[in-house]
Amino acid sequence: MENNIYKKRRESLKKYLPENCALILPGADLQYRNSDSSYALRQESSFYYLSGFCEPSSLMIIINNGKEVNSIAFVPPKDKLKEIWDGYRAGPLGAIDDYLFDQAFENNKIDELMPELLNGVKKVFYPIGKKSGFDQKVIDWTCAANSKDRHSQSIDIMDGSSMVGNMRLIKDDHEIEIMKRACEISAEAYIEVMKSIKPGDNEQLIENQFLYEFGKKGGRFPAYTPIVAGGENACVLHYIENNKELEGSDLILVDAGCEYKMYASDITRTFPVSGKFSDEQLAIYKVVLAANQAAIDAVKPGNSVMEPQVISEKVITKGLVELGILSGDPEELHKDGAFKDFYMHKIGHWLGLDVHDVGDYMEDGDYMKFKPGMITTIEPGIYISSSMDVDKKWKGIGIRIEDDILVTTSGNINLTSKVPSNPEEIEALMR
Ligand code: GLY
Ligand code: MN
Ligand code: MN
Repeated sequence: MENNIYKKRRESLKKYLPENCALILPGADLQYRNSDSSYALRQESSFYYLSGFCEPSSLMIIINNGKEVNSIAFVPPKDKLKEIWDGYRAGPLGAIDDYLFDQAFENNKIDELMPELLNGVKKVFYPIGKKSGFDQKVIDWTCAANSKDRHSQSIDIMDGSSMVGNMRLIKDDHEIEIMKRACEISAEAYIEVMKSIKPGDNEQLIENQFLYEFGKKGGRFPAYTPIVAGGENACVLHYIENNKELEGSDLILVDAGCEYKMYASDITRTFPVSGKFSDEQLAIYKVVLAANQAAIDAVKPGNSVMEPQVISEKVITKGLVELGILSGDPEELHKDGAFKDFYMHKIGHWLGLDVHDVGDYMEDGDYMKFKPGMITTIEPGIYISSSMDVDKKWKGIGIRIEDDILVTTSGNINLTSKVPSNPEEIEALMR
């Protein structure tokens, strides 16, 4: 039964959750777009990782009592009328029988039962500051537990974000299979859209084509709002207006990835609307591609997570000097951070249930080292907006190339290599 995966993950928390301590994780609440029109529920990622359970306003508490790990769920109550309108609810019995929790209660009993569950616990861990109003609730439950028995040791409140975050950082085989498929669906969507794009198309149409291609293969939702940026819009890093018409002479930067079985993919490609790069576009493109490839090569076990960052900065600095956009000694310019006017974001981020996934980047006071099972994006870019003080032939060019990289025992696998990033291959695909 698939739900065994989640039960095993809860049990493996024994390695991280100290004895006589509890971890509380809240699930997501239903969100409204406007008035009473709700979005489909997206379960909170850590809650999902440890339960597979997707009903709103749920909560779990996991207690290591020294002998074993007990997991207790609070879930929406069975309710005939609500189930007619909104669909099936597992209820507490379903949470035990189908989701393999040791105990389960209705979520309207949380305030009453939580102080009893926390009584005798030394520390309570939970993700501090992540959910509006939840910090106060944990304080209230902890104070109520403390006042139950004035002669016992009082309970410390600790941040539990890293505990689950660093578990999620190393993907297991089940997750890797899903993420490979998420990346494949997104890559195939790029191929389809790149073949059909033409001058005069609106950015919004391209966005919808991506959503359609994702949805055809099981990715109903994008992992984040797609960026579909024609021409200079590409220089706005989080451009999501997606409503301008594409000109034949434009490049288009698309940053889009599907969510598949709750897992994110995250791809960026930049390609010419006409199907053919101009000389200036190609020159900048080649610098970004060289940075992308050199940074990907640096993703391997034992290397610091900073290595791809520094390598990408150096390749971009050298490239900008060779094109005459920066002038000076590349080493000195790199030290001075001159590249930051053109490449102002980081090389990438962890990828998993969340697009900007949890997991630390530092460990024992130093940068973390790559380990097998981690998945990171590699996404260098160069952005030259028309307000910059450069030769006008470069103005309005914004290029990013983003791939999703799985760290393996011997190096890495590029999960998004199916969609071409090589300019000749892009031109051939679009012909
Ligand atoms: N798509 C968001 C990012 O690349 O970080
Ligand atoms: Mn990204
Ligand atoms: Mn992206």
